[in-house]
Amino acid sequence: MPRSDAITTTQSEGYEARVARQVPGLRDLHRMAGILLAERVPPSGRVLVLGAGGGLELRAFAQMRPDWRFDGVDPSADMLALARANLGDLQGRVAFHQAYIEEMPRILFDGATCLLTLHFLPRKARLDTLRELHRRLTAGAPLVVAPHSFSIHDRSGERWLARNAAFHGAEGRAPGEAMAQIDAMRKNLPALTPREDEELLAEAGFSDIELFYAGFSFRGWACHASRSA
Ligand SMILES: C[S@@+](CC[C@H](N)C(=O)[O-])C[C@H]1O[C@@H](n2cnc3c(N)ncnc32)[C@H](O)[C@@H]1O
Repeated sequence: MPRSDAITTTQSEGYEARVARQVPGLRDLHRMAGILLAERVPPSGRVLVLGAGGGLELRAFAQMRPDWRFDGVDPSADMLALARANLGDLQGRVAFHQAYIEEMPRILFDGATCLLTLHFLPRKARLDTLRELHRRLTAGAPLVVAPHSFSIHDRSGERWLARNAAFHGAEGRAPGEAMAQIDAMRKNLPALTPREDEELLAEAGFSDIELFYAGFSFRGWACHASRSA
């Protein structure tokens, strides 16, 4: 990995192209998340972006809403450096925190997102993370999440892994490279099913849980922090 203070333009462009190749409708996912936040985040609101490394959703939200302020939280210094590079002049609107959510002060935010990140966390860590997010949101504030969500260990899971491989490889990527990534997903991704993900959001104290996005094995939900959890 490069030094965290020396991310080049080429590296940040490379990250963006790679994520766009892996996630169907990535730019629209960011736009939809911004719109869902805006239903409840007030002007001059403060938005927590968890798993903010890379900075792509931060950049999209900052461009959509010049009045909002952001806190970008991610445990990886390298990914935060990439976020800074991708944000360019917009990075002044973001407070970056190299941290896990439980290490963040208990400030109350007006909304939060956690995109393309929760699927890395096993069930218990995921529930704890969602609970910690809930503790940092004002009552009724929106949360937008978008993890891989599918039944990874049965035959339907194999179908979805193959479809992901085809999507990754669709723009001329070497099939072996895409397959290696799929093998890694099968071995390492503690994906939950959509029903389990929805149950976890409810268990963590979120309500009004609505599916707004489905792109192959990715699912996106918007929900609100219940007044008491
Ligand atoms: C696939 S990247 C997604 C980054 C960004 N949200 C995007 O959509 O491009 C996943 C990010 O989650 C971060 N991450 C891993 N474990 C995390 C955790 N427990 N809490 C918050 N972020 C985490 C990684 O460092 C990485 O930056």
